[in-house]
Amino acid sequence: MVKYELGAMVEPLCSWFEENERSMPWREEPTPYHVWISEIMLQQTRIEAAKSYYERFTKRLPDVESLATVSEEELLKLWEGLGYYNRARNLQKAAKLLVDKYEGQLPAEYDLLLELPGIGSYTAGAIASIAYKKCAPAVDGNVLRATMRYLNCQDDISKQSVRREMERSIMEVIPTEKPGTFNQALMELGEVICIPNGTPLCDRCPIADTCAGKKCGTQLQLPVKPAKKERRIEKRTILLIENKGQIALRQRPKQGLLAGLWEFPSLDGYYTKAKMQEYLGERGISDVKIEKMKDGKHIFSHVEWHMRGYYVQMEEKTQDMVPNLVWVPREELEKNYAIPVAFHSFLHQLLSQK
Ligand code: ADE
Repeated sequence: MVKYELGAMVEPLCSWFEENERSMPWREEPTPYHVWISEIMLQQTRIEAAKSYYERFTKRLPDVESLATVSEEELLKLWEGLGYYNRARNLQKAAKLLVDKYEGQLPAEYDLLLELPGIGSYTAGAIASIAYKKCAPAVDGNVLRATMRYLNCQDDISKQSVRREMERSIMEVIPTEKPGTFNQALMELGEVICIPNGTPLCDRCPIADTCAGKKCGTQLQLPVKPAKKERRIEKRTILLIENKGQIALRQRPKQGLLAGLWEFPSLDGYYTKAKMQEYLGERGISDVKIEKMKDGKHIFSHVEWHMRGYYVQMEEKTQDMVPNLVWVPREELEKNYAIPVAFHSFLHQLLSQK
């Protein structure tokens, strides 16, 4: 016995999807590789925004082999702006494994897909069902929201057990001749009809007739999930240091937030201009021009960076004012270095300065 009864939605939902399917570049030729790349991108990015990344990525890296052999620097550059850079690194780890073990092909079995780095139950199900037409569940947040409302169910969707139960329930009703259609229809229902953060568009919903949430008027209270933890706020001072047309960058630590990516050097806390001057003076750097830039802010899932920025022009390269700097010609910053979006407002201010 499964817990969630979804049988009545299958037919109307699939028909609706077949008539209303949105056009997306990865749907034109849904090979396993295309589905894989698109699904990893879509886990962190809206569909509209992902399209141009997807086009650029697959043009440069059209198959598993090219992904396995591209330099990490270029890979991260292609990913720049999508965030969660470990996803890109895992793509490459998996690609290398696929070349070694599976002749560069993604396996068709759900269980084998699950063994690959960066592929969890959702992605494995999406690849197996959409690209290989195998019966496998692909349950993401959109699917959980839509189904919990449909069932008028109060279960906490952040629990792994609820997701597992939903996966089992979907396997009971998934149409064997078109599993990918059903999975995508459920995702798309959650994205365009049974939307988050607002009133769902029940008057356009293909399964409104059998929806218990609509009947009981509970759509806006569902799904149930625990309140998010508040994000920690970190204040930082970002330094855009220029010396004779070269800008100081440094690489972030190999572990942790934005691991291994390039950044402008920064200091903990907010510095006033006077304190900045003092900081530099203590390091024997006094022949400088310091200009305050526009503040920046970046929100990660668990932390917010509130950033104050200074442009610091030095005449002489003295000792490095912060450790481990590399000096990069202005023109190369955007082309050759993956600088996370968190720093883009400062990067753009710097580059529009001349
Ligand atoms: N959201 C994420 N993946 C999707 C897909 N394949 N179809 C529709 N919406 C999606």
